[in-house]
Amino acid sequence: LHAVPGESPTDTEKRVAAEAAAQLVEDGMAVGLGTGSTVAFLLPALASRGLRIDCVATSPATERQARELGIAVGPFEGVERLDIAIDGADQVAPDGWLIKGGGGAHFREKIVAAAADRFVVIVDSAKPVDALSPPVPLELAKFGLAATLRELGDVELRDAPQSPDGGVIADYGGPVDPPGDLAARLASTPGVVEHGLFPPALVGDVLVGRGEVADPLGLAR
Ligand code: 5RP
Repeated sequence: LHAVPGESPTDTEKRVAAEAAAQLVEDGMAVGLGTGSTVAFLLPALASRGLRIDCVATSPATERQARELGIAVGPFEGVERLDIAIDGADQVAPDGWLIKGGGGAHFREKIVAAAADRFVVIVDSAKPVDALSPPVPLELAKFGLAATLRELGDVELRDAPQSPDGGVIADYGGPVDPPGDLAARLASTPGVVEHGLFPPALVGDVLVGRGEVADPLGLAR
């Protein structure tokens, strides 16, 4: 690991976590690529390894960056499973619950994480928290949007174009704890296409950049 001149301390942490995760990828693997500024450090680290891998991307931005770096990205429609998926997170609770979707890509990110034998989360040291707190990103169906918002209560629509899958990106601002209860409520609310609470059962490893070193986070689960 080497310092990059002019890089912010947070970016260094993102980069070292991303570089450690890139080392987990092996020749011939099917790989899910997440979305966000931490994943933006993963892609060059992965490209520089020169592996023969087949990737699926969780957003047009990731797909574009990966292709520019010469990483093979294909459609996800015909792929049954992935060997590994690597993605960032907005918050990581001590028991392994995550909040994701700061970039509005949580719908695709959750499908990709669920399809992977190993889901590796890469974060800087600000992301592990004692308890999850709002907002929780949502993707909502456009159809019946006003009624869904009324049912959910404390939700703010993002000032962003709709998701690549046609959904409306929003943030739930109510209490999150316990996350399992909120996840169940959101999942059972018609009109909620997906929410950004990821359960511990999905999470394989969490790699945290601290200073210039990436450490695995021990999860209390
Ligand atoms: C995008 C995500 C990101 O992984 C999450 O927001 C973390 O982003 P960053 O790596 O930029 O801090 O869930 O939908």
